[in-house]
Amino acid sequence: MSTQTQTVRRTTVPQIARRKGGEPIVSLTSYHAHTAAIVDRYADFILVGDSLGMVMHGMESTIGVPLDLMIMHGRAVVRGTKKALIVVDMPFGSYEESPNVAFRNAAIVMKETGCGAIKLEGGARMAETIRFLVERGIPVMAHIGLTPQSVNVMGGFKTQGRQEAEWEHHLADARAVAEAGAFAVVLEGMVEPLAAKITKMIDIPTIGIGASAECDGQILVLEDMLGLNPWTPKFVKVYGELGPMIEDSVRRYAEEVKARTFPTEEQVYR
Ligand code: KIV
Repeated sequence: MSTQTQTVRRTTVPQIARRKGGEPIVSLTSYHAHTAAIVDRYADFILVGDSLGMVMHGMESTIGVPLDLMIMHGRAVVRGTKKALIVVDMPFGSYEESPNVAFRNAAIVMKETGCGAIKLEGGARMAETIRFLVERGIPVMAHIGLTPQSVNVMGGFKTQGRQEAEWEHHLADARAVAEAGAFAVVLEGMVEPLAAKITKMIDIPTIGIGASAECDGQILVLEDMLGLNPWTPKFVKVYGELGPMIEDSVRRYAEEVKARTFPTEEQVYR
């Protein structure tokens, strides 16, 4: 009798690319092995985003996130998952200087974490780098519209495309990253008609965050949709109120420790 072990294969980059115009792509961020294991049951890809600087480490923006931190969380998420494609964000300062620098750092991220692709911010200005990476074996997810790493240039996190005069710039970004070989593109914080126009115009999937249901897929930051962020942006739907649930648990624990009602018989080794 022969025994066969069933191996679950991870979703691949071409499988995500082929979902253009089909069933919407489901995605969330994850930064922790055990929550990633839950997300893995439902998501097509999981992003280890640099928003971890803000939601996990209390930073005010993503600018201060170092490469090492992305690698550490990337490893945890790869360890905790079996099925989803894992995409790791390139943090600010690790890829903009030149295609060579981008390749060196992206190769480190892929080797050290075991992820299947990287994501970087920027449209037309990053097209040469995207082509350089893809030609050398590194799948790239692009990210245009509201790009949080440019917060200091933009003067805040501002919704993009409110004036039609701005659209051509975003359309050119979308065209450039698709032509350069990105397998998908995140559209962040942009008005619905612009997201719809980009989604119709390019032949790679668009993944929306604050960019409407016109996109080919959606992504949210896990901590935002679980109610763990003290501030909820308009585009976030809170699916679970974990903040109050954690507070209630911690309060009851503190009360029971003080009253010596925890631990009880059940939790004691005799
Ligand atoms: O870092 C992140 O969470 C992201 C998403 C907003 C797409 O890049």
